[in-house]
Amino acid sequence: MKVKIRQFGENNFSYKSAGELPGLIKLVDTFFELMNTLPEAKCARDLYPKKLSGPSKKLAYFLSGWLGGPRIYQEYFGEISIPSAHRHLKIGQQQSDAWMLCMQKAVEQQAYDEAFKEYLIAQLGIPAGRIVIACSR
Ligand code: HEM
Repeated sequence: MKVKIRQFGENNFSYKSAGELPGLIKLVDTFFELMNTLPEAKCARDLYPKKLSGPSKKLAYFLSGWLGGPRIYQEYFGEISIPSAHRHLKIGQQQSDAWMLCMQKAVEQQAYDEAFKEYLIAQLGIPAGRIVIACSR
């Protein structure tokens, strides 16, 4: 079945396409592995604490609700505004590009539908851009 890009925004279709919570944990683990190893990602990696278990869990939980699945982040940690949650960090275009590069490579390594990969990267670029604006103020 050929999936139309716009369908990913409906109900929990994106969450299902990402393999639900186990799929998101896998994605985030790959993302942080790349963040730890890619030299181009150092400027973003340096912003995180040494131990990545906290940010890793938070990101997977956030992505669950953001993709139309259970809002686990809010259940455990309360409401969140993504740009505001990053305002204390020095995130410019370079750090945002480095973060997106790791996400792009991590998404590529998942067994997702090709249309979903494209959709997910495009969607993640939106908050990544808003974070740069929030951090420049
Ligand atoms: C633009 C590039 C980004 C960079 C460089 C970045 C960096 C960071 C860093 C360093 C932290 C840990 C903050 C700390 O420990 O004080 C963090 C937390 C977090 N990030 Fe990002 N991030 C980016 C984009 C995103 C995007 C696009 C999302 C969501 C789609 C996201 C979701 C989160 C979440 C949920 C947390 C945990 C917030 C909390 O509970 O305090 N980040 N990020």
